[in-house]
Amino acid sequence: MSIDYVKPEQATGTTRYVGQAVDRVDGTAKTSGQARFAAEFPYPDLAHAALVHATIARGRITAIDTAAARVVHGVVDVLTHENAPAMKPAPKMSMLNLGSIASSSSVNYLATDEVHWNGQPVAVVVAETVETARYAASLVAPTYQELPAAVDFATEKHNAVPEKKGNPLLEGGADKGDATAALAAAPVSVDLEFSTPQYNHNAIEPHATTAVWDGDHLTLHDSTQNIGWVRKHLAQRFGVPEKSIRILSPFVGGGFGGKGRAWPGTLLAVLAARATGRAVRLALTREGVYHTVGGRTPSTQRVALGADAQGRLTAIVHTSVSRIARVGGLPEPVTTATHHLYAVPNIHLSHEVVELDLLTNTFMRAPGEAIGTFALESAIDELAWELGMDPIELRLRNEPERDPVSGKSFTQRMLREAYARGAERFGWRDRDPRPGVMRDGRWLVGMGVATAFRGSIHMPVHVTVRLGADGKLVVRCALHEIGMGTATAQAQIAADEMGVPLESVRVEYGDSELPRGVGAIGSAQTASAAASVLAACAKLRKAVLALAPPGSPLRGRRIEELEARDGGLHHRDGGQTYTEILTAAGRDHLEVEHKPTMLGFLARTVRDSRRWVKATTGAQFCEVRVDPDTGEVRVSRWLGVFDLGTVINARTAASQLRGGIVMGIGMALSEQTLIDHRTGRIMNPSLAEYHVPVHADIPHIDIDYLNEPDPTMPLGLHGIGEVSITGAAAAVANAVRHATGKRVRDLPITLDKLL
Ligand code: MOS
Repeated sequence: MSIDYVKPEQATGTTRYVGQAVDRVDGTAKTSGQARFAAEFPYPDLAHAALVHATIARGRITAIDTAAARVVHGVVDVLTHENAPAMKPAPKMSMLNLGSIASSSSVNYLATDEVHWNGQPVAVVVAETVETARYAASLVAPTYQELPAAVDFATEKHNAVPEKKGNPLLEGGADKGDATAALAAAPVSVDLEFSTPQYNHNAIEPHATTAVWDGDHLTLHDSTQNIGWVRKHLAQRFGVPEKSIRILSPFVGGGFGGKGRAWPGTLLAVLAARATGRAVRLALTREGVYHTVGGRTPSTQRVALGADAQGRLTAIVHTSVSRIARVGGLPEPVTTATHHLYAVPNIHLSHEVVELDLLTNTFMRAPGEAIGTFALESAIDELAWELGMDPIELRLRNEPERDPVSGKSFTQRMLREAYARGAERFGWRDRDPRPGVMRDGRWLVGMGVATAFRGSIHMPVHVTVRLGADGKLVVRCALHEIGMGTATAQAQIAADEMGVPLESVRVEYGDSELPRGVGAIGSAQTASAAASVLAACAKLRKAVLALAPPGSPLRGRRIEELEARDGGLHHRDGGQTYTEILTAAGRDHLEVEHKPTMLGFLARTVRDSRRWVKATTGAQFCEVRVDPDTGEVRVSRWLGVFDLGTVINARTAASQLRGGIVMGIGMALSEQTLIDHRTGRIMNPSLAEYHVPVHADIPHIDIDYLNEPDPTMPLGLHGIGEVSITGAAAAVANAVRHATGKRVRDLPITLDKLL
């Protein structure tokens, strides 16, 4: 059975909660310290683990001296490739095996003497306290035979090869018309190289795992945004059925994609628990996160644009080089957004990839689009300068009616409206188009725009909804709370659908024993779960109606005539509460499920994707102040206007959109992972040296959205977790260009690049 697509006007509940700035149902738990994170679950026999990281990029361990670590008082065990129980090898990457996509690398940790990256775990120390474990880990002394390693993207990018396998999750290259010829013939053109550095996820909660074996049954508290994949992967590595693994993950302190797969910390905590027979907690240090959780690949990109004198695009060339690791990783789909943004007859998009001896790269907020839109939207801005045209006008002139590469329809596309509203609200008309002339005292002032774009992904989700005779609802699904307000959003939907107060709804999530959910990845969770909650509530209303006792004003009514409100079903001639109906029927509760099959879901998805391009878009407006003497850039104002379909919660949505913009400002101005080109070692693995924006770096971020339901989506809804990072770095770069006349094409835009 496929997902029931419910248009907003077909939903029978009133929209009392959806769209409102409802307080988070878990707000008090989060702010009062009652919310438990993975490293906070107590066990009486709990032991603590710490990792020993390789200090070479590639080679073999010739010896590993653990004697000094073993004699430290409180050390329980030291596990190395010489004594650790073996895990099964990592499964071969296949789209049919989610457990393989969850795999962080092909390395069989602690079962091999091979070292594949600088930072790879080569030993695990288990001790009575975390301090003891970390101290003893510092005493473990491996000796290595080093082998030549390729670690420097700047030099190795020249050895990149066309990306052939493709990133099966996302879009690859494309060719339409003859972009090279059209570019050569264009009266106006730009042809620019861009680069973006490696970025790392810096969730405020570093990755942590508490692992407890009971015979062949494993209980795991894990800071994961992907319970389902991680459980599959662990089942494959430890040779136990999925059913015997329970993952509990009620609260996760941020993820950004970094907690989407099974990284070595999780695997080794489980292995250490099995080896020692103890409950084992492995809470990574920040440095440990950098060494064992892949960040976003660096990239170089070429964007060449051709246009006629009126600013109509005739050619787009967008090519990229990114890196994966020799031991795994998926190529970053850098040109995804370029498939969809501009009406242009000649398009060439392609990717090249180089394999390095580094930790595998991974998903990071809007994989592909986040860095791809930096290059594309900077180039569009530069073309506007060439044409002497307003950059919004240039974009509107090239706004496509249909998808430029595939010719398919957009299910919804309101970029024109987003720009119109944004320009008005931001005061775009006050922008003097000349570079370097707007001033605020001694500061140069610049204003820039860029387009945001993120494809919309859906997955099948299994939910149950239980209605008690007391009128209370329980929604169950193995969803994730990584900061966005998961329970609140689904509770709002269920409350509206059943016409009950929000306080009467409890959402149970974050537990693999619950009906199968979807990872909080790809901006897919909220809308995917909402589709199933809607469908389950529709079933539940029918099931309630079927119980209406003799004499009930509901008897003989069709469900379409009824409204779910005031804790029951109502017709204009009367109704009954759920309590009345269930009590009369002698029922203590009624429970329904919605369980879309993978096959039905895929059939529907394929059918849809042949017809439509589904995406969220937005217009990013940035104002900067630049110090002409020091090159210091301050973002002084921001407005994002987004086309997201229906917004469930005005407060959590605005907050999530702001988060993406903050991350985009970090990309633009300060973040970069620095890798020693001789050793492959990350040199700045801490928040002291990897500069994420802090509060003082960020002005008030104004958020606006069109709130127009997408007619093809359940409740008109899309995911919104990633779209707002896209375009953000370009908006900063374009504002800097306006303020200073300087086009910075290599992120981050540090002071030295402006002087
Ligand atoms: Mo996302 S990068 O799939 O959390």
